[in-house]
Amino acid sequence: MGTYRSKIVILILLIISFVTYSILLYESDSKQSAPPNKLAQKGRVLWQEKNCTACHQLYGLGGHLGPDLTNVYERRSEDYIKSILHTGTVVMPDFKLNEQEIEEFVEFFKYINSTGNADPKSYKKHLDGTISQ
Ligand code: HEC
Repeated sequence: MGTYRSKIVILILLIISFVTYSILLYESDSKQSAPPNKLAQKGRVLWQEKNCTACHQLYGLGGHLGPDLTNVYERRSEDYIKSILHTGTVVMPDFKLNEQEIEEFVEFFKYINSTGNADPKSYKKHLDGTISQ
């Protein structure tokens, strides 16, 4: 019966470890960014309507003809983003966006940039198996 009891003890220890680890992970501060404002929300809808994701990625997901735009707001100036949206390029079409829509896109990129970094190489790995930026 000794082995039976030790199995129960091990099982209980495993359950306690599992519950403790789950609580710790749940309680650890996961960076919650503020919700997108009205302009950024409109930008997100435009992003879907114009199917920008056919050529661009957000968080590495999307087409690969153009660059990942998760952190474009940090990488480029607002003026640069606006001008490329105004004219398009040789590869990227001119979507004939008006000033309002361009502002919405800029605000959307600003918001997406605030939600994190798309480059996994810049993430920090922790001993408990989690990562942070
Ligand atoms: C047909 C493919 C295609 C589509 C669709 C497209 N783009 Fe692009 N975009 C590109 C390419 C390619 C580039 C890189 C510049 C170049 O090589 O011409 C680019 C560049 C950009 C840049 C500048 C990125 C940087 O790092 O310099 C922004 C901002 C951008 N696109 C936004 C958009 C938005 C917003 C939409 C949707 C309205 C969109 N693109 C749709 C192909 C596309």
